[in-house]
Amino acid sequence: RASSSESRGALIVLEGLDRSGKTSQSSRLLSYLEGLGHSTELWRFPDRGTSVGQMISAYLSNKSHLDDRTIHLLFSANRWEKRVTVEVSLHKNFESQKFQASVQKKINMKSLMETQLKNGTTLVVDRYSYSGVAFSSAKGLDIEWCKAPEVGLLAPDIVLYLDIPPEKAAERGGYGDERYEQLEFQKKVAKCYQALCDSSWKVIDACQPIEDIEKQLQDAVLDHVMACERGRPLSYLWP
Ligand code: TMP
Repeated sequence: RASSSESRGALIVLEGLDRSGKTSQSSRLLSYLEGLGHSTELWRFPDRGTSVGQMISAYLSNKSHLDDRTIHLLFSANRWEKRVTVEVSLHKNFESQKFQASVQKKINMKSLMETQLKNGTTLVVDRYSYSGVAFSSAKGLDIEWCKAPEVGLLAPDIVLYLDIPPEKAAERGGYGDERYEQLEFQKKVAKCYQALCDSSWKVIDACQPIEDIEKQLQDAVLDHVMACERGRPLSYLWP
């Protein structure tokens, strides 16, 4: 499915195992695109700033325990809450100024993915639906079940996969305390990413020097940023 063909920003997603270098490469890519004069924002999932994000954060730091399907749906909800346009029709009785002001405050349209892209802002996103599917299916959940709640989210213009052997990633300063930072589990996640990866992904060897990776990411995104500026239509998961 596709919609409108107006100039817009590009949706650029970085994926990879924990410690594959996504976060530092995302910031470098942001600086590069800004330097070229493109309006660009750095996003990441999970977005721990929302109330759903706080539940996810508690789970990841082992402060809470949730069923595998429940946490999967929370990760997905965390993407949906940054995607959808919320429409509010106020009942007459509730049209008090105080209530309206609080509604206005809650619905900050500018923070929504589609609004930003249509405003011409390119989004560099550190993890997206592919993390959702790879990490949950690595626990043994059915892949189609994992993909289902993502249907209808915006599809990225390009997925950049930072490819690193799990053993190498584990050597990088050691894992922290978060739930998934364990070698055996990351090996399963790597296999699940392989199952998701198709020819539209740009796979980059994440064991190369940082500057080489940076350059390859820059080369990979430019055509997509330009195509979106020329009006490539938005598309939706799963294409
Ligand atoms: P982070 O370290 O990039 O903040 O990600 C936190 C962890 O959450 C990481 O181990 C990957 C995992 N994750 C999921 O399991 N499902 C998801 O949908 C996302 C975005 C991340």
